[in-house]
Amino acid sequence: MNLNSKISRIYGPVSSELKTVDQRLKDFAHSAPDYAKPVLEYAVARPGKRVRPVMTLLCANVFGDVEDHPIKMAAATELLHLATLIHDDTIDNADVRRGADTVSKKWGNHVAVLIGDYIFAKSAVMVCETGNTNVVKRFAETIMELSSGELKEYFDIGDVSCDLSGYWDRIYNKTASLFATATESGAVLAGANADESERLRIYGNKIGMAFQVMDDLLDITGNSDQLGKPAGNDLLQGVMTLPSILFCVQNPDDNSVKTFLNNPRDFSIIQSFTEKVRASSVIAECELLIHQYCEEAIDQCKSLPQNKASRALITLVEYLMARES
Ligand code: IPE
Ligand code: IPE
Ligand code: MG
Ligand code: MG
Repeated sequence: MNLNSKISRIYGPVSSELKTVDQRLKDFAHSAPDYAKPVLEYAVARPGKRVRPVMTLLCANVFGDVEDHPIKMAAATELLHLATLIHDDTIDNADVRRGADTVSKKWGNHVAVLIGDYIFAKSAVMVCETGNTNVVKRFAETIMELSSGELKEYFDIGDVSCDLSGYWDRIYNKTASLFATATESGAVLAGANADESERLRIYGNKIGMAFQVMDDLLDITGNSDQLGKPAGNDLLQGVMTLPSILFCVQNPDDNSVKTFLNNPRDFSIIQSFTEKVRASSVIAECELLIHQYCEEAIDQCKSLPQNKASRALITLVEYLMARES
């Protein structure tokens, strides 16, 4: 199946609901106070891949026509994601997101922090409108997990101890947790039973893990133009991710990262370290781990009702793993 048919298979079943989600994001920006409006309109103007809302909508669609509550939830997951990106770019000193200046680059860190908070709050309002307290609770826990993942990453800056289990915890918290909530809540709000909702929670969790490993790999192997955000930024910020952790475990005498952290202006140290990682077997090892997470995600779909939406969830896994941005 070529890329275009994959995309229409994934987005097709929920395309009108996704348009409603997009419209709600725009309405939210338009209805903000005048001084906040330009920032919010800018933030929602360049949609990303819309992976999380698509997942919520498809997980609901597995169990029938998509009603308003899953649509609200889908908009909330995208807003939560957007707020997290604005804060993440502020912490990561990133200048570019979705191919354009970040909010922090354009308006400064103060505005980025406050507008991120404003968007977080709106996402919570939307989830409350679903009227499901279990979903509201899970959403609030997700915000705690996202924050603790980002906080741990910050405290781990410069830590070259190569702690793999810390890495898995961190990426669950900062990324997979929201994927799991996006998928589980779509199912719950569409009336899925406990077993089905749990399967879809696991599906989201596994894809989220694969997605972040892929993102960490693309940071090493990709380029900024293709990604629409700065490549190579993780190591420049002193953040060790799976490829660099595995490389250091296998090459304990390589002190490049430590040397760079003591000479943070000497980018050539990181450039040559990145070349070594790219040429090593860790790239294939990361790809294998991504593949295993994807297989585990696909397994969860096998006992769901078989229809366009559940088939789209499988295609989505294949699409995300072939992504280059
Ligand atoms: C970027 O997420 C942040 C990560 C969890 C790696 P996406 O790759 O989904 O970003 P957009 O929404 O498509 O821009
Ligand atoms: C994911 O981590 C960030 C969030 C969960 C917001 P990254 O810092 O790797 O994300 P990118 O690479 O900036 O998109
Ligand atoms: Mg970042
Ligand atoms: Mg990244």
